[in-house]
Amino acid sequence: MEKESLHFSYMILLLTIVASHSLASTQPRCHEDERSALLEFKTTFFTKKHMCCYNFFSRAPVEQAKIESWNASTGKTQSDCCSWAGVECDKVSGHVIGLDLSCSCLSGKVNSNTSIFRLLRLRSLNLAFNDFNCQIPAAIGNLGSLRDLNFSSSNFTGHIPYSLSNLTRLVNLELSENWLIGTIRPLENLTLLTDVDLTGNSLNGVIPSSFGNMSKLEYLSLFDNQFGGEIPSSFGHLSHLKVLLLISNSLTGEIPSSLGNLVQLESLQLGRNKLIGRIPSSLGNLVQLTRLGLLENQLVGEIPLSFGNLLELNYLALYSNQLSGEIPSSLGRLTQLEYFYLDSNQFQGEIPSTIFQLQSLTNLHLNSNNLSGTVNLDAFSEAKNLRSLVLSSNKLSLIVETNITHQYIYLGLGSCNLNSFPEFLQVQDNLQELDLSYNNIYGQVPEWFLNVSTEKLNYLNLSGNFLTSFALDPWKKLVTVDLGFNKLQGSHYFISNNRLSGGISPLICNLSSIQLIDFSDNNLTGSIPQCLSNLSGTLEVMSLHSNNFIGKIPNLNANFCMLIQIDLSYNKLQGPLPRSLRNCNNLEFLNFGNNHITDVFLSWLGSLLSLKVLILRCNGFHGLIKEQADKIEFPMLQIVDLSQNIFSGSLPSGYFKRWTAMKVSETNPSSYIGHPIAFYPGSTFDYSMSVIAKGIQMNYSKIQGYLTLIDLSSNNFSGVIPESIGNLKQLELLNLSNNILSGPLPPFLANLTNLEELDLSQNQLSGEIPLELTQLTSLEVFNVSYNRLTGPIPQSWQFATFENNSYKGNSGLCGNPLSRKCGDLKASPPSSPTSEEDQDSGSAVELDWKIVCMGYASGLVNGVALGNYLIKRRAQRLVKNFGRRKQRQRR
Ligand SMILES: *[C@@H]1O[C@H](CO)[C@@H](O)[C@H](O)[C@H]1NC(C)=O
Ligand SMILES: *[C@@H]1O[C@H](CO)[C@@H](O)[C@H](O)[C@H]1NC(C)=O
Ligand SMILES: *[C@@H]1O[C@H](CO)[C@@H](O)[C@H](O)[C@H]1NC(C)=O
Ligand SMILES: *[C@@H]1O[C@H](CO)[C@@H](O)[C@H](O)[C@H]1NC(C)=O
Ligand SMILES: *[C@@H]1O[C@H](CO)[C@@H](O)[C@H](O)[C@H]1NC(C)=O
Ligand SMILES: *[C@@H]1O[C@H](CO)[C@@H](O)[C@H](O)[C@H]1NC(C)=O
Ligand SMILES: *[C@@H]1O[C@H](CO)[C@@H](O)[C@H](O)[C@H]1NC(C)=O
Ligand SMILES: *[C@@H]1O[C@H](CO)[C@@H](O)[C@H](O)[C@H]1NC(C)=O
Ligand SMILES: *[C@@H]1O[C@H](CO)[C@@H](O)[C@H](O)[C@H]1NC(C)=O
Repeated sequence: MEKESLHFSYMILLLTIVASHSLASTQPRCHEDERSALLEFKTTFFTKKHMCCYNFFSRAPVEQAKIESWNASTGKTQSDCCSWAGVECDKVSGHVIGLDLSCSCLSGKVNSNTSIFRLLRLRSLNLAFNDFNCQIPAAIGNLGSLRDLNFSSSNFTGHIPYSLSNLTRLVNLELSENWLIGTIRPLENLTLLTDVDLTGNSLNGVIPSSFGNMSKLEYLSLFDNQFGGEIPSSFGHLSHLKVLLLISNSLTGEIPSSLGNLVQLESLQLGRNKLIGRIPSSLGNLVQLTRLGLLENQLVGEIPLSFGNLLELNYLALYSNQLSGEIPSSLGRLTQLEYFYLDSNQFQGEIPSTIFQLQSLTNLHLNSNNLSGTVNLDAFSEAKNLRSLVLSSNKLSLIVETNITHQYIYLGLGSCNLNSFPEFLQVQDNLQELDLSYNNIYGQVPEWFLNVSTEKLNYLNLSGNFLTSFALDPWKKLVTVDLGFNKLQGSHYFISNNRLSGGISPLICNLSSIQLIDFSDNNLTGSIPQCLSNLSGTLEVMSLHSNNFIGKIPNLNANFCMLIQIDLSYNKLQGPLPRSLRNCNNLEFLNFGNNHITDVFLSWLGSLLSLKVLILRCNGFHGLIKEQADKIEFPMLQIVDLSQNIFSGSLPSGYFKRWTAMKVSETNPSSYIGHPIAFYPGSTFDYSMSVIAKGIQMNYSKIQGYLTLIDLSSNNFSGVIPESIGNLKQLELLNLSNNILSGPLPPFLANLTNLEELDLSQNQLSGEIPLELTQLTSLEVFNVSYNRLTGPIPQSWQFATFENNSYKGNSGLCGNPLSRKCGDLKASPPSSPTSEEDQDSGSAVELDWKIVCMGYASGLVNGVALGNYLIKRRAQRLVKNFGRRKQRQRR
C-alpha cells in the first residue's frame, strides 16, 4: 500500500514537470496514426538483453531497451510519442521524422507489414546494432523522405531490395556488418548520397560505373565484400571524395589513373584485391592523402616518383606486391610518415639515405625484398619513435654499434649477415618480437642474451643459424619460438641447470602461453617430453621434424587441444599414435611420415573436420583401412600420403566418395595453406612437406591451397581400382604404384581431368589402356610399367609424349614408343613380369618398413614460381622443363 502511494506521488511530480516543459516549448503533440504505428512496432519485437551492443572500448554492455518506455496509457504526456525515447518529431507539424532505435536489443523479424514503414515522413531511421535476422523488406522503398538510413550490424540477410532505389533523397546510407549478398545496383541512381558504408557484407558483382555520378560522395566503403571486376574509372568524377575503402574484395584490372583527380582524398585503401599493372603516377596528385594502402595485390613496376608529393602521408602500405626498382629517395620528403610498409616486394638497390631522416617513423618494414648494401643501425636514430623495424630477408649487411640505446618493440634482423648476437640487445627491455633468423651466428648463446626482455619477449626466431645450445626458460611470455635449422644437439641443448634428458628439456613446459614451437631440422635427440601435453591448450604449431627424436609421441591434453599443425616427420618415433589426437578439432596438418610408428589406420581421424593434410608415409602402419559408414569424414582433406606402409585389403572406395575437398575446386587459387602467426607482422608459418612426385622427393616450403594428391603407393593394397575414385575431380596426383592391384585399367579414370601424374606401375593390372584416358590433357607423367597390360598404346594428345619407361614390363603392349608393332600383338601372349628388368623393380610386397624408406633425389620447391609446378594452367613451360629435369635426375 505504502509503496504504491509513493509511486503515485512521484508520477504526479513527473507529470507536472513534463507538462510545464511541453508548454514552454509549444511542441505539437504527435499524430495518432504514428503513435499507434510505434506502439504496434513495440509489440512486434521482443528485447533480448544479452543481444545488446557493447561499448567498443570498455566491452561493457550498453542496454538501451528504448521501446520499453513507450507507453500506451491514455495519460496525456506518456501518450505524446514525440517525447518517447528515440523518437524525433517535426517541431512544426508534429510528425515523426526521426527514429533512433540503435542498440535497443531488438530481436524479431521486420517485414513489409512492420508498422514503421507507415511512418512516411521519416527522414532518419537508425536500427543499427539489433538482431533482425531477416531480409531488408521491400517496404523500405515507401520511406521516400529518408535522408539517413542506418542498419549497421543488425543481422540483415539477403539482397539489398531493389526498392531502395526509390529513396532518392538519401544522403547517408550505412548497411555495414550484415550478411547482405548480391549487387549494389539499387544504389546506382541515388545521386545525393554523401556517405555510403557497406563494409563487412558479402556483396558481389561489379561496382556499377554509374557510381561515378554520385557527385556528392565523400565517404565510400565497400571494405570486406566480394566485389569483382575493375574499379570504374568513372570514380575519377567523385571530386568530393575524401575516403575510398575498397580493401578485401576481388577487384581486378589496373588502378584507374583517373583516381588521381580525387584531390580531396584523405584515405585511399585498395589493399587485398587482385589488382595488376603499375601504380599510376597520377596518385601523386592526391596531396591531401594521409593514408594510402595498396597492399596484397599483384602490382608491378616502380613506386612513382610523384609519391614524393604526398607530404601529408602518415600511412603508406605497399607490402606483398611485386613492385621493383629502387625505393625513390623522394619518399624522404614525407616527413609525416609514421607507418611505412614496403615488405614482400622485389625492391632492390640500397635503402636511400633520405629514409633515415624520416623523423616521425614508428614502423618501418622493408623485409623480404632484394635490398642490398650496408646499413648502420645507428642511422635510424633520427626517428626517435621508431619501435618496429623489420629489415629481414634482404641482402643487407648490418652494422650494429654497441652503444645504441634506442628502444625497440619489434626488431626483424633476419638474414642481415650478423655474426653474433648484437650487444645492444642487452638494453632492449621492451622487446616483444625478435627475429635473428638466417644469420651466421655460431655456437653457444651468450649468457647475457638470456636476460634480454625476459618480461616481454613473445616472439623469438633464431632459426637458420649455427647455434649448438639454447635455453628458453628465461622468457615466460614466449608465444612463438623458432629454433629450426640450427645445429642444436642433444645434451647441450639447454644451458641452464639441465642436463638431464639429453633431449628437449621439460623446462620448455614452463612456457605456459606458447603457441608455436619450431625445433625442426636440428640434431636433437632423446624423447619428446611428456609434459608437452600440458601445452596443447595453447600450442597451435608443433614442428619437430627432421631430428633424431626417439620413443613415444606424448599424449595431448585430454580436454583441450588447440593444435592446428603437428609435424613430427623424419624422426625415429615409435609406438602408436596418441589417441588424444581425437580432441584436436582444429587440426589442419598432420605429418608423422618417416618414423617407426606401428599402428592401424585410425578412422576417427576423419571426424577432425578441418584436416587438410595427412601424411603417414614410411612407417609401420598396417591392416585394413576401415571406413565408418555414412559419416562425414575428412571433408577438407586434400593431401593424403599413406605410402610405404603395410596397409592391406582393398582400396578405401568409400573414402573416395566422401573426400569432398578433392571433388570441388578451391575458390581462392592463389592462397597457400598455412597458419598465421599471431603477432609477427604479416607472417604465416607455412605448412611445408615433402611428397614423392614425378619420381623425386619434392620438398614444398609452402603448399598451394588447391594442391590435391593421393599417394597410397608401396603398400599391400589388392583388388580392383574402385569406380568411386572417378569422383575426385580435383585430384592432381594419384600414385597407387607398387601394390597388388588387379583387374582392368578403368576408363573412369578419364574423369580426373586435373590429373598431372598417374602412377599405377608395379601392380597386376590387365587388359588394354582405355582410349578415354587420352582425355586427360593435363597429364604430365603416366606410368603403368610392370603390369600385365595388353593391346595398343593410345597415341593422341599427351600420350604422344610419354616414353618407353611408362610402359615397360608389360609384354602384351604394343605401338609407339615401344618397338613392338601392333601387328605382332596376337603372337605375344600377356606375360607376368619375369624379365631381367623386372628383377630390380622390386615389387615391395614384403617391404620391411624398419629398413626401407625409399631414397629419392630431392628438390626444394620454393616460393610461388616453382611451387606452381603442378599447375599446368599457369606455368606450362615451367612445368615442362621442370618435369624433364627431374626425369634426368632420376637416372
Ligand atoms: C505506463 O503507464 C502506466 C499507466 O499509466 C503506468 O502504470 C506505467 O508506470 C507507465 N510506464 C512507464 C514506463 O512510464
Ligand atoms: C549508425 O549507428 C551507430 C549506432 O548508433 C553509430 O555508431 C554509427 O556511427 C552510425 N553510422 C552513421 C554513418 O551515422
Ligand atoms: C502482411 O499482412 C497481410 C494482411 O494482414 C497478410 O496477409 C500478410 O501475410 C502479411 N505479410 C507478412 C509478410 O507478414
Ligand atoms: C544473427 O542471426 C543468427 C541466426 O539466427 C544468430 O545465430 C546470431 O546470433 C545473430 N547474430 C547477432 C549478432 O545478433
Ligand atoms: C516509391 O515511393 C512511392 C512514394 O514515394 C511509392 O508510391 C512507391 O510504391 C515506392 N516504390 C517502391 C518500389 O517502393
Ligand atoms: C538508374 O537510371 C538508369 C537511367 O535512367 C536506369 O536505366 C536504371 O534502371 C536505373 N537504375 C535503378 C536501380 O533504378
Ligand atoms: C655510437 O658510437 C659511434 C662511434 O663509435 C658514434 O658515431 C655515435 O654517435 C654513437 N651513438 C650514440 C647513440 O651514442
Ligand atoms: C648430430 O649428432 C651426432 C651425435 O651427437 C653427431 O655424430 C653428428 O655429427 C651430428 N650431426 C650434425 C649435422 O651436427
Ligand atoms: C564421371 O563424370 C560424369 C560427368 O561428370 C559423371 O556423370 C560420372 O558419374 C562420373 N563417373 C564416375 C565413375 O565418377
